[in-house]
Amino acid sequence: MQLTVLSVTAAAGHPPRQPAPATEAVRWPETGMNCTNLNIVIRDEIDTDIVAISDVTQAAFESLEISNHTEQYIIEALRAANALPISLVAELDGQVVGHIAFSPVKLSDGTQGWFGLGPVSVEPEYQRKGIGKALIETGLSRLKNLKAQGCCLVGHPEYYKKFGFQNVDGLVLEGVPKEVFFVLSLHGPVPEGEVTFHNAFKADGQPAAGGDATR
Ligand SMILES: CC(C)(COP(=O)(O)OP(=O)(O)OC[C@H]1O[C@@H](n2cnc3c(N)ncnc32)[C@H](O)[C@@H]1OP(=O)(O)O)[C@@H](O)C(=O)NCCC(=O)NCCS
Repeated sequence: MQLTVLSVTAAAGHPPRQPAPATEAVRWPETGMNCTNLNIVIRDEIDTDIVAISDVTQAAFESLEISNHTEQYIIEALRAANALPISLVAELDGQVVGHIAFSPVKLSDGTQGWFGLGPVSVEPEYQRKGIGKALIETGLSRLKNLKAQGCCLVGHPEYYKKFGFQNVDGLVLEGVPKEVFFVLSLHGPVPEGEVTFHNAFKADGQPAAGGDATR
């Protein structure tokens, strides 16, 4: 299988949310997975992607038992709070088949420039074909362009180490076991302390106090 990933910044006429890094084209390596050639474009979200992002996210997490099935609301709440500096879609033949979000996190020691990865989703029918990997690697490359200091996430124990994420002792997320909390320093040593994800991660689609369901 050959997955060709063309990473671009945004569709014509739609400015990306972040300063545009140079356009890069990456030919994805042979993975031996069950599909024929896929021409995937990884690009910034635009307004007309919003419904598709929600649909892909919902579909990807639907059968996941550990999910609260609120991921689509989290993305909406991050967007509404202007806390979605990187939001990339994977597009196949004009259809959004994957999405990844990065949002700022707070570190208790005051270190700035750290981000949370997720939610990340691939339409079930297109999973295990390298699309998630393309989204994650492009997203991490964007973070480096933004001079981010590091990235962390909660995720599958077996999935994220291949991208350089590690389980660490010094940086913790309250209530989350070390085995599923992953950290990647992009600059210098991993800080010590506690991580707090954006309040939008509490979004569940219900109106919050004050009547706004997204904050
Ligand atoms: C997790 C997800 C985003 C991965 O995207 P994907 O396109 O299916 O993954 P890829 O094909 O890029 O896989 C990359 C590698 O990870 C492996 N992998 C994929 N999903 C995995 C999983 N759930 N557990 C362990 N390994 C996994 C693949 O075998 C592949 O390995 P290789 O590079 O050694 O061949 C996607 O499966 C998904 O949307 N899942 C449901 C939602 C979810 O779980 N999101 C993440 C929450 S932590």
